[in-house]
Amino acid sequence: MTYKPLITEFFNRYKYDDIEAYLRLGGFSGLTNVIYEGKDFAISELKDADIKGRGGAEYPAWRKWLLAKERDEEKVILCNADEGEPGSFKDRDLLNKDPYKVIEGMIIAAYVIGAKRGYIYIREEYDHIRRKFITACELAKSYGLLGVNILDAEFDFDIKVNTGAGAYICGENTALIESMMGKVGRPRLKPPRVGEKGLFGLPTMVNNVETFVCATTVMIHGSEKYCSTGTVNSKGNKVISVSGRLKSPGTYEVPFGITVDELINQIGGGPKGEYPIKFVQSGGASGPLIPASMFHIKYSYEDFEENGFSIGAGSMVVVDEKTELIDYLIAIEEFFKHESCGKCTPCREGLNQVVKILYKIKRKTATLKDMEKLERVSQVMVDASFCGLGVTAPTAIFSALEYYKGELYQNVAMEDVK
Ligand SMILES: Cc1cc2nc3c(=O)[nH]c(=O)nc-3n(C[C@H](O)[C@H](O)[C@H](O)COP(=O)(O)O)c2cc1C
Ligand code: SF4
Repeated sequence: MTYKPLITEFFNRYKYDDIEAYLRLGGFSGLTNVIYEGKDFAISELKDADIKGRGGAEYPAWRKWLLAKERDEEKVILCNADEGEPGSFKDRDLLNKDPYKVIEGMIIAAYVIGAKRGYIYIREEYDHIRRKFITACELAKSYGLLGVNILDAEFDFDIKVNTGAGAYICGENTALIESMMGKVGRPRLKPPRVGEKGLFGLPTMVNNVETFVCATTVMIHGSEKYCSTGTVNSKGNKVISVSGRLKSPGTYEVPFGITVDELINQIGGGPKGEYPIKFVQSGGASGPLIPASMFHIKYSYEDFEENGFSIGAGSMVVVDEKTELIDYLIAIEEFFKHESCGKCTPCREGLNQVVKILYKIKRKTATLKDMEKLERVSQVMVDASFCGLGVTAPTAIFSALEYYKGELYQNVAMEDVK
């Protein structure tokens, strides 16, 4: 499999405190191209490249940028670098190994939509990366790339770096904004959406770190080159976090259209140890389980959707046969129970019930009634939770019931104990 990384092309080729090296590599040519060609050109390039938001929701970037551009009022840009999804660490590497591409993407976005203020919300645990990012911003400012009258193009823009509040829910747009405004990080009722009324009550355009980096890549190389890999509906490459029982876990840039099997065995180096791979959890803890029998499918938005899977935040957690499925499910749902913000009953109480039943399955004391309740409560969470956390928390349970029902039920008492 031969392909050239494009999104991560500058990894390990310069240091965060060497902006000259980034410039020598062709950095900031995306910004100059956009200033030269114009804002509509930038939107049209984004549209051709068909970048879907890389934070998990997969919303088309060009549409978000266009809606923000059309708003004739003060607005802000927000880069979501909270990265709280278990198994996801690609944003950490993008920030660490190519901070200027993130900065350039934010400046391009600011120019296109007409924002003067930008914020980046960096996961609390990424403290060392945050400090480097601040230095990179200061250097960009000293080179006239941030601040007043950037590149004499008569636009001003600056970036403020914020520390994440240390909760998974603060990755959700509205909870993130609440926490930035000094409130408890809990999701807000929508509408209004953050694009209309977000940070400090201003229209706020939120994108994930990788989305900004992809935008910079398109503006440097053009959409045609960007789209030279990938599939019909999943253009270009994707930066993924691969972890679990593999020989070579890490952050990789891969072309859309590669199979899950290639991801595991060629990119990830195959199983670590003597046990074969049982399943992959795709997209994070909130994603579905892909069983080994489906490893032939292509890693693309369309193929995943057709088979009931999701790309999400782009993580792949690989689990081998040595791991007990029930232990894995307990770890996942314990995580969500811990991270539930408690605002709504379906999620808060639902996760308590789900975790209790999972432990009963583990102890071999679950009854058919418990199993029926597990499905019912999980469905209520999907139907009635206030935000995406509660809606997606039972995804792994549904996958387990679909692909490993026999295994889950093997220790369930087939007659209910009175
Ligand atoms: C519980 C929850 C956690 C989230 N965490 C993140 C996160 O850590 N990083 C991120 O970019 N998006 C996260 N999102 C998605 C954001 O709300 C939002 O869709 C995204 O930042 C928009 O950027 P994009 O369009 O570039 O993907 C999360 C959503 C939910 C419901
Ligand atoms: S679904 Fe969970 S995380 Fe979201 S608002 Fe309800 S309790 Fe909070």
